[in-house]
Amino acid sequence: MSLEGKLVVLREERREDQRLFADLRNDLDTQAWPKGLPPDYTEEMHIKRLETREFSYERDSARLAIVEKASGRLAGFVSYTGEQHRLSASIGIVVSREFWGTGIGFDAQEVLLGFLFDELGLREVHLWTHSGISKAIALAGRSGFVECIRLRESVFKNGRLLDGVVMSLLREDYYARHTDKVDRLPKVA
Ligand SMILES: CC(C)(COP(=O)(O)OP(=O)(O)OC[C@H]1O[C@@H](n2cnc3c(N)ncnc32)[C@H](O)[C@@H]1OP(=O)(O)O)[C@@H](O)C(=O)NCCC(=O)NCCS
Repeated sequence: MSLEGKLVVLREERREDQRLFADLRNDLDTQAWPKGLPPDYTEEMHIKRLETREFSYERDSARLAIVEKASGRLAGFVSYTGEQHRLSASIGIVVSREFWGTGIGFDAQEVLLGFLFDELGLREVHLWTHSGISKAIALAGRSGFVECIRLRESVFKNGRLLDGVVMSLLREDYYARHTDKVDRLPKVA
């Protein structure tokens, strides 16, 4: 079974993906980081990062390439980090600008959430963003995430003070939105 949605497939990242990933990191609008990162990341740095990963069955993070099914083109990536067994994880998503507004971001996010709740059995998934990225907040909201922490004026970006925002999605809310699925994990009192 692959991680496949309506519009996208999520697959392992490959060497040839790293050019786009470096470009996304070097674009101040797509780097998705609360503090501006210098746009000097190279493809070689990204390849090194990929190739120095060690094989392990004990994983608490992953980065997956988003591929548009219709064209087979690489559209960006999704990731999860800090996964605590059967408990929680943080997610991230970056989509190349040419795919914005196509629904690919939503579909990729939903496929990742399906993996985290259905396969890893997590109770809670969250993400960090800031008040300047309305598209990220809207995208999270479309999957049922709600704001749970707002750190006022904690982010300085594009010459402005912005609020750091944490949004979270609970397992029960995920399954309440996905009535085609059954949550077979026992509820926690
Ligand atoms: C965050 C990000 C992934 C959102 O991308 P996006 O294009 O808004 O997301 P989608 O691909 O799901 O597109 C949603 C839009 O497409 C529309 N759409 C078109 N077809 C659609 C479909 N089949 N399904 C869902 N939405 C569809 C939606 O109505 C929505 O329109 P709106 O933005 O006018 O409300 C993107 O802006 C990005 O990569 N930003 C930079 C990195 C970043 O900030 N990451 C998040 C850090 S927390």
